[in-house]
Order: sequence, then structure tokens, then C-alpha cells
Amino acid sequence: MSTKQFKRYLITSALPYANGPVHIGHLAGVYVPSDIYARYQRLKGNEVISVCGSDEHGVPITIKARKEGVTPQDIVDRYHEIIKDAFKRLGMSFDIYSRTSSETHRKTASDFFRKLYDEGKFIEQTSMQFYDDEAQTFLADRYVMGTCPKCGNERAYGDQCESCGSTLSPDELINPHSTISGGAISKRETKHWYLPLDQYDPMLREWILEGHKEWKPNVYGQCKSWLDSGLQPRAVSRDLDWGIPVPVEGAEGKVLYVWFDAPIGYISATKDLTPDWEKYWKSEDTKLVHFIGKDNIVFHCIVFPSMLKAHGEYILPENVPANEFLNLEGDKISTSRNWAVWLHEYLDEFPGKEDVLRYVLCANAPETKDNDFTWKDYQARNNNELVAVLGNFVNRALVLTQKYYDSAVPALGELTEYDQQTIAELSGIKSSLESNIENYHFREALKDAMNFARIGNKYLADTEPWKVIRSDPERVKTILNVALQITANVAVAIEPFMPFSSEKILKMLNISKLNWESLGSMSLLEAGHQIGKPELLFEKIEDDVIDAQLKRLADIKAQNAAAEAAQNVTAQKEECSYDDFQKMDIRVSTILAAEKVAKTKKLLKLTVDTGIDKRTIVSGIAEHFTPEELVGRQVLVLVNLAPRELKGITSNGMILMAEDASGKLELLAPEHKTNNGAIVG
Ligand code: 2FM
Ligand code: ZN
Repeated sequence: MSTKQFKRYLITSALPYANGPVHIGHLAGVYVPSDIYARYQRLKGNEVISVCGSDEHGVPITIKARKEGVTPQDIVDRYHEIIKDAFKRLGMSFDIYSRTSSETHRKTASDFFRKLYDEGKFIEQTSMQFYDDEAQTFLADRYVMGTCPKCGNERAYGDQCESCGSTLSPDELINPHSTISGGAISKRETKHWYLPLDQYDPMLREWILEGHKEWKPNVYGQCKSWLDSGLQPRAVSRDLDWGIPVPVEGAEGKVLYVWFDAPIGYISATKDLTPDWEKYWKSEDTKLVHFIGKDNIVFHCIVFPSMLKAHGEYILPENVPANEFLNLEGDKISTSRNWAVWLHEYLDEFPGKEDVLRYVLCANAPETKDNDFTWKDYQARNNNELVAVLGNFVNRALVLTQKYYDSAVPALGELTEYDQQTIAELSGIKSSLESNIENYHFREALKDAMNFARIGNKYLADTEPWKVIRSDPERVKTILNVALQITANVAVAIEPFMPFSSEKILKMLNISKLNWESLGSMSLLEAGHQIGKPELLFEKIEDDVIDAQLKRLADIKAQNAAAEAAQNVTAQKEECSYDDFQKMDIRVSTILAAEKVAKTKKLLKLTVDTGIDKRTIVSGIAEHFTPEELVGRQVLVLVNLAPRELKGITSNGMILMAEDASGKLELLAPEHKTNNGAIVG
């Protein structure tokens, strides 16, 4: 493990795509951890910058724009604002939140490409790519659609089948067609620039596999498996009309691949922040840390470092603490299926509960494996941990001080052995908390921070100042002095995790911001100092609030199921004339009796009152309905269907039914009871 001392920190957080809002999965995976780390380093007095911004290029943005009939710029303008504003409201302490459609970024990414191009760092190669003849454009993999060779889904994309989750290439699709014109596609030759990643293999092996064995196992493991399976040259340009134009002659209609320009966005953001940007990016004294989700590992550990090395002037990251994924109520979070808790909506619906979300997402962060967010857990953590432990302790310390001493901090008397033990325990937690944050173990770190409050709570419970006040009022002064000092400590310990609550505590204690050095100190409040009015830090969340969220999710699930069923609808049959339709005589009827046809699995013999007569119909529905549930039901019957012989029984008509793509059957019936024999048409 590297023990190098650094002079400054450059913290980056994955640039979110500006094609949709940010959800809890993004927060738990990337932004909550990165903010904890940045806030902690700042509190320690280190020189820190934390940079982020919107990733505004890439095919999904153009697809969304096309769908909505607006420009890609309209899309990114909309989501950039939503994301930026939501981050701010959550207390994300980025020093800059920039965007990749900015002029600074266009120039930075262009110059980066041009330098590598001029120095011969790329390979130029032509290949055959899918082309839409009607729309006269090359097609990104996402724009090609066809039948998945693995599961038969007719709406699989050229890069992935969303039905079975397989990664695909457009060549594998059966009946590929263009989603732009809907028409057939052909292949055409096109030229692109490739970064020969294979040439960087020795450097990457030495740097990661030898030099960074301390990286998280999921990150190190993914890097090793990429390296072991052999790196290939990667195209860094695309045929697309949205992105940064490839800055060389003869590259009309070509743009930089989004994964080439996006990480350069970290550099552009730093440039937008400070003219002194080079000291962050070009000095070995800087500790560069990339916070990302696991789907970004290869780009940040293999591709971007190779680009930086090829460029030659930049430092490489010291660590890339990628997290796994967060699920929601047992299902994968999905933007397209609206299966998410959106940050901006949460902030609107739960004003004042920013820290609750930060707390729950950190306590449940998918640090070593995928994890699940559930609303019940959110409620339990709020009620049992934030309200019952943290809020309760702070409130008791402040209320008792108000009650006994008119809110003036009482003087510290002689410390008992128990007081001393408690104080010693706090300094032990401080070092655990520090080491957990430094090593990116934020869940454990949060437990440590909460332990300050837990210990405070226990201290009050054990010392019982509300009882002792009657027998030994002098002793209570010491108890409450200690409790108030612990309260001030709590404000410091939780600041990286719950900055709003930390600020509230400081305000109630009537003191200004403390630094990390103060943690563990028992002289943060002087005797006689007047503290402010106690207010509740957290409030209990009732069941109806949680039930409303669960109902919203259940509704979304039902809508998705309906939409999925609609997508699988069988194609329309060939046209039939009005006369053809008129020939069919459909009547409201009632099933009078039903019994299984012997020696068959599927057949039921039904006696039906059609209003015209009482007749026998044999129907293949025995696997879907029991005879008992059919008797007495009204149904629709095609009464003039030619009679058929089935297992020796003559069937005179057909019961009408609806069958969906999954094979589920529904009987059709009039909405209200109707006379048998009523004509349907
Ligand atoms: O996965 C994503 O959301 C990407 N937009 C992350 C980009 S990170 C960086 F390279 F910009
Ligand atoms: Zn499939």
C-alpha cells in the first residue's frame, strides 16, 4: 500500500449523463461517498477540490431528443439544470459542477485528441458499419434493432437485449433494421481512430497489478480480468452528429467517442474552476481519486489512464473506489422503466430530510456487493437510528441544560473514572473513523460517527442527571458539561455524512464551524457559554408516508407490465370485410353446467343458455378454469360456428376469450347482467 504523502486532493465524481435525472443508485454508488470524502479532507484542513459536471454527449441523448422531437442541446440543457440543482439541494459540496457541452471542454478535448493524433498515438482503421440508406446516416449500435439471437425478443438493440440482458453486437441481430427510418440497413466502409490499448498493457500491469494491490477487490479484480483477457485497440471516434467534432481534416460527420471526451471533462471542469488547474493535474503531489460506479471501472482504470499516459503531461489516479449497484425494492434500478427514486422528486416530497437520504444511502452503500434500498429500511433507520439515537441524545443534552442552567454551559468539575473511560472511548473511535474514511469504508465510518451519539446516549442513561439533580446538583454540572462537549463532537463527526444536521447542532450550541482537530476534545464549549434553543434534529416517519411510496412503486410496476404486454402483441390479422364480420352471430349467454371431458386435460363440456336454445359447447379451457367457477357466469358465444366433433361430443359454438402474450385467458362478458340472446356487434 502506498504511504506517499500528498499536498493536495483532486476528487472527481463520475459525470452523470444529462439524459435523465439522478437517482438513489447514482447517489449511493458515487456521489454520497465522494462528498463524504471531500468534506472530510476539507475538515482536516487539506487542500481539496471536488469536481463534477454533466456528461452531455453520447447516443442515448440523441435518441431521447429524436423521440421528443427536440434537439440534443434542449435535452442536456434541461437535465443539466435538474441535476445541478438537485445536487446542490442535497448538500453536494462540489467546487464546480460543469458540463461537457461547454466551450472550455470542446477545446480541451479537441486539443487532447489533436496532440495524440499529431504524435502518431492513434491507429487509423476502416471498418464496415451499419448505414441507414433512407436517412443517409451511419448507425450507432443503439440505433440498430432486430431480433435477439438468444431470447427471440424482436426489439433487441444492436448493443444489448433489454429482455434477456445479453450484450450484443449489431451483426448478431436477426432481421436488423434502423430505428431512425424504420427501414432496411446496409453496410458501408468508414474510417475511425483507435487508441492501441494493447501498447499500454505493460504500463497498466505494473501500475495497477503491482503498484495498487490496495485497490478495492472489485476494482482490482475487474482490471486484472481485462488485462488477462488481452487489451485491444479501441475506437475513439464515431459517425454521429452530436459530440465534439474530430479535429482533423477529412473527418466530417465524425465526433469524439463519448468515453474519450467525458473523462477529459474532469480536466475541463478544473480549468473552469481555477486558472491554477495545472497544479492539480500535472503535479505528483496531487492525490487524484475517481469516485465511480462499477460499470465505469474499465474506462477509469484502463482507457483514461492510457489516454493520460499517451498525452504524457498528466498524473494518474491514486485510487478508484468504485461501488457496486444499488437495487430498489429487490429490482434493478432502471431509468427507462422509471424504477427509481429520483433525487429531485425526493427533495420536493421530503423537504428537510436531505440528511436522512444521505444517511440511509451511506449506511446501505453497495461497497462490496450489490445492495437493496427499501422504503421500510429507510423508515426503520430514520426512526430507530436517527431519531432514537442521534436526535434523542442531542435533544436530551440541550433540553436538560436549558432546564437546569438556563442554557448556560455548566462548569466541569472532577471527572469520575466512568467519565474518563467515556472520553477515552471517544478518541478510540476517532482513529477508527479516520482510517475507515481514508480507506473508503464509508459504511463503517458512518457507524463510527454515530457511535459518538450512541456513547453520549449511554452516558446520559448511565449517569441519570435527571435523578442525580436531586441528590448531587454539583455532579450534574459535570455530567452535562461532558454531554455538551460530546454533542459538539457529534457535530464534527457527522459533518461529512450529514452536513445539514451538523450545522443545526452547531447553531443550537451557538458555536461556529469546528475543524477535524476538535474531534475528541472536551473543551469545545466554555463554561458559561450561552447555547441556543433546542430543536428536534429528526422526526419520526409514519407508516402512511412509506405506504404512499410503496404504492407509487406498485403503480409503476403495473404500468410496466401493461406496457410490456402491449409490446408483445401479435401482429394484426389480414383485413376482413364488414360482411365477413356481419356473418358472425355473437350472443350473450349463461353457462348452466360444466364438466371435464374424460381422458382429456384441456377440454370442458359446457351447457350454455344462448337465449336461442340450450346447447352443448366443448371448450379447451380446463387448464384455466375449474367447472365450479364457470357455472352461472355470463359469457359471449359465437353461436353460428359450424358444429365440430370433439372426443365424440358435438360442440355447437365457441366461447369468446381474450388471450395475452403470456397465454393468460380472460372470459369476455357484458359489464352488467344482460338478457341471454342479446346480440353482440
Ligand atoms: O456512466 C455514466 O453515467 C457516465 N456518464 C460516466 C462518465 S464518467 C467520466 F468519465 F466522465
Ligand atoms: Zn435477448
